[in-house]
Amino acid sequence: MKIKNICCIGAGYVGGPTMAVIAEKCQDIQINVVDVNKDRINKWNSDNLDELPIYEPGLDEIIKNSRGKNLHFSNLIEEKIALADMVFISVNTPTKNKGLGAGKASNLKWVEECARQVAKYSIGHTIIVEKSTLPVRTAEVIKSILNEAKNSNLGNNFPKKTFDVLSNPEFLSEGSAINDLINPDRVLIGGDNPEAIESLTTIYKYWVPEEKILQTNIWSSELAKLTANAFLAQRISSINSISALCESTGADVREVSRAIGSDSRIGTKFLDSGPGFGGSCFKKDILNLVYLADFFGLPEVATFWESVVKLNSWHQHRISKLITKNLFGTLSNKKIIILGFAFKANTNDTRESAAIQICRDLLEEGAFLIIHDPKVYQNQIEIDLNRKIFQNNQVDDNSGNAREGNWSFANNLSSIFKDADAVVILTEWDIYKTINWDEVSKLMRRPAWVFDTRSIIKAIDIKKSGLNFWQIGDGLR
Ligand code: NAD
Ligand code: UGA
Repeated sequence: MKIKNICCIGAGYVGGPTMAVIAEKCQDIQINVVDVNKDRINKWNSDNLDELPIYEPGLDEIIKNSRGKNLHFSNLIEEKIALADMVFISVNTPTKNKGLGAGKASNLKWVEECARQVAKYSIGHTIIVEKSTLPVRTAEVIKSILNEAKNSNLGNNFPKKTFDVLSNPEFLSEGSAINDLINPDRVLIGGDNPEAIESLTTIYKYWVPEEKILQTNIWSSELAKLTANAFLAQRISSINSISALCESTGADVREVSRAIGSDSRIGTKFLDSGPGFGGSCFKKDILNLVYLADFFGLPEVATFWESVVKLNSWHQHRISKLITKNLFGTLSNKKIIILGFAFKANTNDTRESAAIQICRDLLEEGAFLIIHDPKVYQNQIEIDLNRKIFQNNQVDDNSGNAREGNWSFANNLSSIFKDADAVVILTEWDIYKTINWDEVSKLMRRPAWVFDTRSIIKAIDIKKSGLNFWQIGDGLR
């Protein structure tokens, strides 16, 4: 079946960029991206491309080319489902916070809602594509909801409703989403009807070489997505655990990474030690895997994967503790500059960012934080830290130390270093790589520290400045 009209439910970090790239590559297909969130849709439709709801290099250009031609954003969910012969489900699947499986299992209420909407509003034959990351066997749930609709009759003018369900998980990384979508390592399509699989394959074949399009059964596809994220996160926890050992033994984690990465069986990627992995998916997807393993009676498998998440959390606290220790065991009344709040560079996303836990720990110790990030807004940080920004007229009657345990936001780097006791680099933004440490050093209060959790400073560039320097996994310092 040749697809002419696509509806994507969910205009988020995945739905928006993925549909933008499909629209650019398949100009004969009409694509409607729909969302319940009106504000988000307005931003996708904004004339000012700086106001798009997500920041992703190259996205604005693609949106400019396709929006209004074959790419449309709206809240008209029912209408656009009815028009579509293929519906992508690209909604959020966070960890459940209450009830059965709380803290581990995925909350599928949004996915279920989508299946019900498709069951109700679709006309004729519709292929439903799971784009969200889902627990293995979710397609079964979707199919059983759709089955109920198959027999419903809209009248003689409408063809009977029929459905196929495919799994087509997304492997893009934020910050490089457009490149990942245009040049994917692979596209994975799981399903049980070869005709439906072919319809989706035909779309990807517009720009992805055929040998990169993998076809599997639906359960393998669902499980492969969770497994890919678990393996990637496991590498980060592995190298972060080694960074702690490097600091205790005089080894250097960058040298260890290089040495092991040049073994082609290990490979060079995902071996950068940092402040701990963040992002909306690694933790939630591993916990989901843990839940599934427990559910299927495999506690040893569950414990193995859970340790990846536990190590990550331990590592984040380890960093805040060592900052406190180096600043004489107390942060009370000390000014600390936080460079970077996003969970990685080139995104405005802060979900599960290591910066959140580390900043909370430092605030708890009484520090006064000045937080800078080139793409994250102040109000997002207020939400993440669950603390309002410090107002200059705020007074603490008892100690006179109103700044203790508070934070402020910096729009740029000029003059934020004045009288600071420490600088902590938490996101590897390019602008932090060119800071003149000799100049910064003159402004800080001595003894002053720089903590680089992202290995972006060359020791030689900071050596002469007189600043104390700590870098992740560097045991020689
Ligand atoms: P997101 O929160 O940015 O976007 C999801 C959108 O779905 C929201 O705008 C929400 O309003 C909308 N939505 C929810 N229920 C709806 C409904 N019934 N009707 C219409 N709209 C609805 O989430 P995301 O980051 O795009 O992630 C989506 C899925 O893709 C998740 O399962 C995630 O695990 C997976 N994933 C994410 C990434 C990533 O980099 N963010 C990468 C690969 C896979
Ligand atoms: C990750 C996966 O890389 C994608 O393939 C997947 O599609 C996506 O999750 C998802 O399912 O949501 P993303 O979270 O956008 O993508 O970003 P990554 O580049 O994987 O980084 C995740 C975290 O690990 C970041 O905090 C990053 O700083 C950290 N990281 C990454 C390291 O600490 N060291 C590394 O070597 C690599």
